[in-house]
Amino acid sequence: MLSINQVQELIKSEIEQTNFIKTPSNLYEPIEYTMEMGGKRIRPLLCLMATQLFNGDIQKALKPALGLEIFHNFTLLHDDIMDNADVRRNKPTVHKKWNENVGILSGDAMLINAYQYISQCESEILPNLLNLFNDVALGVCEGQQYDMDFEDRVDVTVDEYIEMIRLKTAILLAGSLKSGAILAKASEKDADLIYQFGINIGIAFQLQDDYLDSFGNQKSFGKRIGGDIIANKKTFLLITALNNATFEDKQTLKSWIDAKDFDEQEKIDSVKAIFIKNLVDKSSQKLMEEYYNLAMNNICQVNGNEKIKNELIDFAKNLMQRIN
Ligand code: IPE
Ligand code: IPE
Ligand code: MG
Ligand code: MG
Ligand code: MG
Repeated sequence: MLSINQVQELIKSEIEQTNFIKTPSNLYEPIEYTMEMGGKRIRPLLCLMATQLFNGDIQKALKPALGLEIFHNFTLLHDDIMDNADVRRNKPTVHKKWNENVGILSGDAMLINAYQYISQCESEILPNLLNLFNDVALGVCEGQQYDMDFEDRVDVTVDEYIEMIRLKTAILLAGSLKSGAILAKASEKDADLIYQFGINIGIAFQLQDDYLDSFGNQKSFGKRIGGDIIANKKTFLLITALNNATFEDKQTLKSWIDAKDFDEQEKIDSVKAIFIKNLVDKSSQKLMEEYYNLAMNNICQVNGNEKIKNELIDFAKNLMQRIN
């Protein structure tokens, strides 16, 4: 059994050893650039920890785990175009460093690459693994479309928001864990429990991402603070403020949402002040803890290696306090 730190090292060295560069360079260089600019590598980590949780062979799970990280990075390339984001992991995004067409096509190639890696498993489990991955990948697209659709609405409910982040974020974390379970040939019951753990951790993870997008520190977060506010993203923060803030604050929020020509920093500062004044930052942290508790409830019911289970619990706890 490898500890979480050892698994992290294994993933790092596997990525370092992979050569993403071929010709034409404008197709492949952005892939190498993205894959080597770091990131937390959470998805392959969850996959490999779940493999170990159910006593599977970690070496056999390595390529599919890498495929999940490639898929995640593909979603980031396209997400940054859709969100008009200039900075990720403290570096210029691909569409800024190259251009949008490069971002689209390199992203497409990464999706295909992801399939190549995920298919490198024993043939008897391939149908299961691919079915799961297909469901996850389509779900992420659905979540991303809801996210974009919600930018133009002011009546998005908290339930709609939770469903949107379940799709765009949580199912990939859950799917990574379940992939590990499938690779280890775990029982269906355990595979479903670990998936459910991933859903709840994933929802908490995106709540924290949205919190940090407004209240994080740009250097550690690696993304521009206030990007969601500028784009009128219907995060839990904005939805709750639109529902519960004072009449005057609601009017101010609505006028910022409708504003076409404005000073970006002024909008960010004004909206953040309304969030703080109406305590929506606190409610968001509270909701995150509720999902974290649901996740803990799920993992406690899993029948697996106790040491690995405890490492996963610690990891999830640390994720809730993440600043990057
Ligand atoms: C960013 O994911 C996209 C979200 C789902 C919030 P991560 O926060 O896992 O990004 P990296 O890979 O560590 O940069
Ligand atoms: C992440 O949503 C979802 C996916 C990339 C699929 P965000 O748009 O909040 O992610 P960041 O903040 O850009 O990493
Ligand atoms: Mg987005
Ligand atoms: Mg984004
Ligand atoms: Mg975000």
